[in-house]
Amino acid sequence: MARSAIINVMVQAAVKAGRSLARDFGEVQNLQVSLKGPGDYVSQADRRAEEIVHTELARARPGYAFLMEESGALDGDDNQHRWIVDPLDGTTNFLHGIPLFAVSIALERQGQLVAGLVYNPAMDELYTAERGGGAFMNDRRLRVAGRSKLTDCVIGTGIPHLGRGHHGNALIELRNVMGESSGIRRMGAAALDLAYVAAGRLDGFWEHGLSPWDMAAGALMIREAGGFVTDFDGGADFLDTGSIVAGNETIHRILSKQLKKTLPAR
Ligand code: IPD
Ligand code: CA
Ligand code: CA
Ligand code: CA
Repeated sequence: MARSAIINVMVQAAVKAGRSLARDFGEVQNLQVSLKGPGDYVSQADRRAEEIVHTELARARPGYAFLMEESGALDGDDNQHRWIVDPLDGTTNFLHGIPLFAVSIALERQGQLVAGLVYNPAMDELYTAERGGGAFMNDRRLRVAGRSKLTDCVIGTGIPHLGRGHHGNALIELRNVMGESSGIRRMGAAALDLAYVAAGRLDGFWEHGLSPWDMAAGALMIREAGGFVTDFDGGADFLDTGSIVAGNETIHRILSKQLKKTLPAR
């Protein structure tokens, strides 16, 4: 598969950051770790990876703006283009030695997502997508799963950590989906969860309270793999609202409906 110039730029940045993460993952007990809020950790590994991604992308495309989890928003001369970067999605997994974490990079052009990358260095799985060009894992083309009954489906979600709101809704939603699906997974890295939906590993996904860097790359990937991604009202504002539902067309519809039900406790 021939990769476009922009995907090559993103791959180079992600692979370099991934090498840094892999080194730090092997020495996790020596990393400086601090809390941004209750249950919300950030480590030297997050910051090193972000610095690498920023340096590489800024060198390859001078002037593009940035939105990054650890450094926030950086304006550029070229405000038509903006990189959205999560240098380490799944920090809690990472700090616990769980190899489910990823670098996530997306590119917006005039406010529209045009390229996305999610890279798990521990498994050497590189997911890429370009608007109109399909989605890939390494060199394999991706397609969302084809199941059409929720009872056959494995659905991913995120459960709010300590200090996060939405606990009440999370329990209702969990109960609603738990009773009607084949199983639920909470893997701890939203960007990777979305890439797994694109790859057909998860049949669907929902979460609240996410940030643009958790969703931007994975959302484009799902669309390019033939899937549906919306906010909870079926609109396209998930990057702003932080709430996302994804799946193939049928599962997206059924899951969106199921999440909103108010079922009696079982
Ligand atoms: C977190 C992960 C997690 C999700 C949290 C995110 P981080 O990102 O994606 O799965 O439930 O809401 O903040 O902080 O590890 O990059
Ligand atoms: Ca974080
Ligand atoms: Ca994240
Ligand atoms: Ca992060």
